[in-house]
Amino acid sequence: MKEMNDKVEAVVERALSAIENAHTTAALEEARVRLLGRKGELTTLLRQMKSVDPEDRPKFGALVNSARETIEKELDERARVLVAAEKAARLELERIDVTMPGRAPRIGKIHPLTRGIMDITEIFVEMGFAVVEGPEVETDYYNFEALNTPQYHPARDVQDTFYVNDTVLLRTQTSPMQVREMEKREPPVKVVVPGRVYRRDQVDATHSPVFHQIEGLLVDHDITFTDLKGTLAMFARKFYGEERKVRFRPHYFPFTEPSAEMDISCAICGGAGCRVCKQEGWIEVLGCGLVHPNVLRAVGYDPDELTGYAFGMGVERLVMLKHGIDDLRLLYENDLRFLSQF
Ligand code: DAH
Repeated sequence: MKEMNDKVEAVVERALSAIENAHTTAALEEARVRLLGRKGELTTLLRQMKSVDPEDRPKFGALVNSARETIEKELDERARVLVAAEKAARLELERIDVTMPGRAPRIGKIHPLTRGIMDITEIFVEMGFAVVEGPEVETDYYNFEALNTPQYHPARDVQDTFYVNDTVLLRTQTSPMQVREMEKREPPVKVVVPGRVYRRDQVDATHSPVFHQIEGLLVDHDITFTDLKGTLAMFARKFYGEERKVRFRPHYFPFTEPSAEMDISCAICGGAGCRVCKQEGWIEVLGCGLVHPNVLRAVGYDPDELTGYAFGMGVERLVMLKHGIDDLRLLYENDLRFLSQF
């Protein structure tokens, strides 16, 4: 019996040291199976019951059972410790400092050109104009012919055109929409037309093969040049500020008669003359005039009944003047250091 006692004790000893040496719950689970399972030492001991003196068998049974209890208790104890340690480690790993200041997301802004188009059209909407848009791929008829600019007309030269074929082109101006709108509507017609236009120009500080224009057209009974001047002067004050002065200079456009260009007083020098206004004190911002009778005729309007005015402005130029931008390319390069200033 003494021999058996020693054996059981040795098994318990080894078991406790194995438990002690399990450093993860997974290792401990392996140890549990190894120690208490069907192939474990304890089970093997129990199988030797036959060789024990029948008198001693109850004692031996009790001994093995108590050994088993000791091992189980130790396993449970160790399991509690390891589970707690692993949980603590996981929490540490997943720790979030809720007091840490966040990273502010960069907030997007509307591009200064888009802003310009929105602001300009809005001013005209307030004055009762509807906003319409039209095709960038146009026909020669709408872009030139119906605008009193027949083939070989010298005005075609200054708008070097991208042709798709003999009769189809990329519009060089938003003016073709004058014709399209008059064809479509009964007078009065009162629209502004923002959009992209195309010309075969080399890129430099003031040129781009793609740029934006806003066209305006009002056709009704008894429309005069005074109406045009009042409307555009109002626009200039709203867009550039109340203190801005405007002046109209005679000019030539095929589709208006009479035609004019509008200048605004130079904001840099206040009219005294500087580099920006080329010592003029004035800066040209748009073309305008009274709709030419030939244009009215082309859409089937009677020029003896109806009159109208039209104007067209380059958005890039207006936006550059408003913000003091001296290079048009800045508007297309999308450098955030530039864009974030608006
Ligand atoms: N379409 C002209 C251009 O691109 C601008 C223009 C001038 C438009 C006079 C007009 C106008 O409607 O009346 O240069």
